[in-house]
Amino acid sequence: LFAALTPQAPDPLLSLIALYREDARPEKIDLGVGVYRDEAGHTPIMRAMKAAERKLVDEQPTKSYLGPEGDVGFVALSARLAMGPQAEGLIGVQTPGGTGALRLAAALVQSARPGGTVWLGAPSWPIHAPIFESAGLKVCSYRHYDPATGALAFEDILEALGQASAGDVFLIHGCCHNPSGADPDAGQWAEIARLTAERGVVPLIDLAYQGLGEGLDEDAAGARLVVAAVDEALVAYSCDKNFGLYRERTGALFVKAAGSIDATRSNLHALARYMWSMPPDHGAAAARIILETPALAADWRMELDTVRERLNAVRQALAAAHPRLAPLGGQKGMFSLLPLTPDQVIAIRKDHAVYMAGSGRINIAGLTLESVPRFVQAFDAVLSN
Ligand code: LMR
Repeated sequence: LFAALTPQAPDPLLSLIALYREDARPEKIDLGVGVYRDEAGHTPIMRAMKAAERKLVDEQPTKSYLGPEGDVGFVALSARLAMGPQAEGLIGVQTPGGTGALRLAAALVQSARPGGTVWLGAPSWPIHAPIFESAGLKVCSYRHYDPATGALAFEDILEALGQASAGDVFLIHGCCHNPSGADPDAGQWAEIARLTAERGVVPLIDLAYQGLGEGLDEDAAGARLVVAAVDEALVAYSCDKNFGLYRERTGALFVKAAGSIDATRSNLHALARYMWSMPPDHGAAAARIILETPALAADWRMELDTVRERLNAVRQALAAAHPRLAPLGGQKGMFSLLPLTPDQVIAIRKDHAVYMAGSGRINIAGLTLESVPRFVQAFDAVLSN
């Protein structure tokens, strides 16, 4: 049986983690996988999370099974966090991280419309296309980002929306675009919402960085506008970054299902049951404790503010330090794409111990105000070689 398999290349982003670990150079800089790091290069467990975990350990009465929808309190509170008052009308299911939410969304679309089409802007998170394709869906690509300006390729997005057929799924990064950091502005969101509704396209919003761009509500404003404009929508939500829960795999899928609420909910539950039965509990239970405890929620918001402020300070320092980095100043969140060729990405790793994805994507959180000058020097050196 297994002789029929062809070997798969290891995930390049995850492989970088091991490469970086093995590099003995003390000045090395890790701008690879998307995890937040503080000034000391550490990925902390947030204060409120530690407190919620303690409470969970002390007070959780049982580890017995929940249903395929997971922790319903977490689902309701995270829906409210993501979608504001619109959360009321949404079906919610807890998922193993944002990836699980995307996988469940793909399975739901495949059940509703086998072989259906998902429109995906390029570049995107490299795992998006394989998630949809492995569910049996067709991926149509369009240009999301213009490397010449470092901004959104907005005309291309409108053109793709104009070409999409009713019932096609259109993936939209809710905020802090991965990998480019290029997000729509308020006017562009309004235009996307209008056209999405006009075309009968079903938006699938990947909201994985809420709170890391401009603020919790600010970062969700575009997604809320789009969801409000249409009858059917999907929102894949991740708590990896804003709750610092990464390995706990905590996320949710929210679905707006017009007149098909019961059928959609029962399909979501059935599909979740076939894929993972029920999602892992710990991270969601702890996030729920934070969101339902006003003092913990306030502390979590405060710590998230410092995370965002640090990212933005480093981003602005980078933008000011080199003319080729200037576009970064108008981008948002954890990532940006550098104007480097794949060979230059290898050169900056080999010659300067700076690690980044092959696309030239950097994780801004891997830098500090102190390390920015050394990084910019390395960037300039490989550019002029
Ligand atoms: C990233 O893009 O670095 C993160 O979303 C982590 C991942 O799973 O790829």
